[in-house]
Amino acid sequence: MRVLGIESSCDETGVALYDTDKGLLAHRLFSQIAMHAEYGGVVPELASRDHIRRVLPLLREALVDANMTMADIDGIAYTAGPGLIGALLTGASIARSMAWGLNIPAVGVHHMEGHLLAPMLEENPPELPFVALLVSGGHTMLVDVPRIGEYHILGESVDDAAGEAFDKTAKLMGLDYPGGPLLAKLAEQGREGIYKFPRPMVDRPGCDFSFSGLKTFSLTTWQKSGQTEQDKADIARAFEEAVVDTLFIKCRRALEQAGRKRLVVAGGVGANRRLRARLAELKAEVYFPRLAFCTDNGAMIAYAGALRLQAGASEAAVINARPRWAL
Ligand code: KG4
Ligand code: ZN
Repeated sequence: MRVLGIESSCDETGVALYDTDKGLLAHRLFSQIAMHAEYGGVVPELASRDHIRRVLPLLREALVDANMTMADIDGIAYTAGPGLIGALLTGASIARSMAWGLNIPAVGVHHMEGHLLAPMLEENPPELPFVALLVSGGHTMLVDVPRIGEYHILGESVDDAAGEAFDKTAKLMGLDYPGGPLLAKLAEQGREGIYKFPRPMVDRPGCDFSFSGLKTFSLTTWQKSGQTEQDKADIARAFEEAVVDTLFIKCRRALEQAGRKRLVVAGGVGANRRLRARLAELKAEVYFPRLAFCTDNGAMIAYAGALRLQAGASEAAVINARPRWAL
């Protein structure tokens, strides 16, 4: 079965073609980051309009890459939520209309399910069961996955997501949007031990996170510093270490609590090098998707949808999008 996946929940348009026998055939992505950067964050209306412009050209390119035509598509998967309502509706409308026109089934996929299944697209995919750490700009959660489709949330952020804390800390020190990767780059020049940031909620039982305090800590530290380039790098380093350390401690706890020996890491912050290095210290097998599939992409949606379509799933031909949607 050949499945088209469409991702349009935020500021990235992703399109992919996945074959349930042969694996991933093609994937294309357009990032709107440059367009939103001048506003310091994602402008929802601009995002929706750009998704409209991008989906079909990206699909045409993917079809060429996969040496396929529209008639070869057997099913469609699209991100139905959570995300920006207008952006989601764009993908949902295109997916549903195409499915209707081609007389093939379509299913709405949960964006975070897509992220947590992304490592399954790699050459050595993790076996089940596993614990997944989902760390993106919108979510930070630890999920126990006994089998695909069954997700038990072990803990999540009570306020800001880890990526959001990265972006906000970067912004207050004058870095461009999205600041996460830029802050991580800057942290490489930071000296160890100049600043000591707290590790929020590690003394409390459970696997919940809280990152909004770290962002405030960054603000006061930055204001009290000399605000030189070196201060910026030192703060970036201390901030990054605090986030990474906190994630490490909670991952170790989640694995113990669920009795699992495998950890899957997904979501944009999963691209962070320090996090990757630190999690490798866990007494567990740790799986990461390739960098391109850590951030939003169509391949993870095609994969998650293909599993359901292959099992015979079909949904009513209704254009639905759920900006808020529990995993
Ligand atoms: O999963 P994603 O592409 O989008 C959603 O939020 O769904 O994640 C984007 C987030 C942003 O907050 C971005 O700053 C962060 O991931 N991010 C990073 C790095 N690369 C992306 N944060 C820290 N270090 C990185 N290398
Ligand atoms: Zn995402």
